[in-house]
Amino acid sequence: SQMAFQPPNFRRKPVVIVVIGMAGNGKTTLLHRLVAHTRMSGIRGYVLNLDPAVMTLPFGANIDIRDTVKYKEVMKEFGLGPNGGILTSLNLFATKFDEVIGLVEKRADDLDYVLVDTPGQIEIFTWSASGSIITEAFASTFPTVVAYVLDTPRSTNPVTFMSNMLYACSILYKTRLPLVLAFNKIDVSHHQFALEWMEDFEAFQAAIENDKSYTSTLSRSLCLVLDEFYQNLRSVGVSAVTGAGMEDFFAAVESSADEYMETY
Ligand code: GTP
Repeated sequence: SQMAFQPPNFRRKPVVIVVIGMAGNGKTTLLHRLVAHTRMSGIRGYVLNLDPAVMTLPFGANIDIRDTVKYKEVMKEFGLGPNGGILTSLNLFATKFDEVIGLVEKRADDLDYVLVDTPGQIEIFTWSASGSIITEAFASTFPTVVAYVLDTPRSTNPVTFMSNMLYACSILYKTRLPLVLAFNKIDVSHHQFALEWMEDFEAFQAAIENDKSYTSTLSRSLCLVLDEFYQNLRSVGVSAVTGAGMEDFFAAVESSADEYMETY
């Protein structure tokens, strides 16, 4: 595969983990857990917060967009609503992103991971120019992996599962970066059903055909698209609340980083 940019010769570390997920999936709680895990295990992590509208972070960020861009003032100055305010703040921050890369590069020898939190409104990051600028700036400097967080209990509904997978699929093809699916909240529902649906496309087909809101021809073709997509990713089950699956998560990130190094 090919990328829109030319990565220079870069080192294997740190690995940048861009955490993306729909609102309510537990992204912030999971980041908190990942940060706690790294600190406990002697893994050297760096934290970057890209959500200008977050009120309080349960973890300390080494670099925080809120230190540079005041989201409320951006809203006032440009006469914007909340989403326009977040988007414009991210645009303003993206224009200075080379400075962020410079800061991480200076620390690179002392870091294993850079954990990146993105705005809760997923499309602000995934479908904006600044989201692409930030992702590509990282990916042309360090091995970069996308972690897509899903709400496992909600995904037991096959239509919700399919929507989530199509979204993840679009992120994979847009960023062209290795993708890890992090099935969160496995303390509530185990993600075994999801693994089965991903492995056996007929099992998933059967589940979705019970839902009358999808026509079977549409679901049949979507299942085929997804089947191809599943070949290109890694899935892990995690619980931000109990801390289950942390080793699996970092193992999946490591093999994704290896894949990145081989590909680019
Ligand atoms: P942002 O989009 O960054 O605002 O975060 P979010 O809305 O994706 O998720 P947040 O971390 O705020 O969590 C949403 C809800 O899910 C909260 O009530 C969390 O306590 C809950 N939650 C998060 N992770 C888990 C988990 O692993 N298990 C359970 N049972 N609940 C969780």
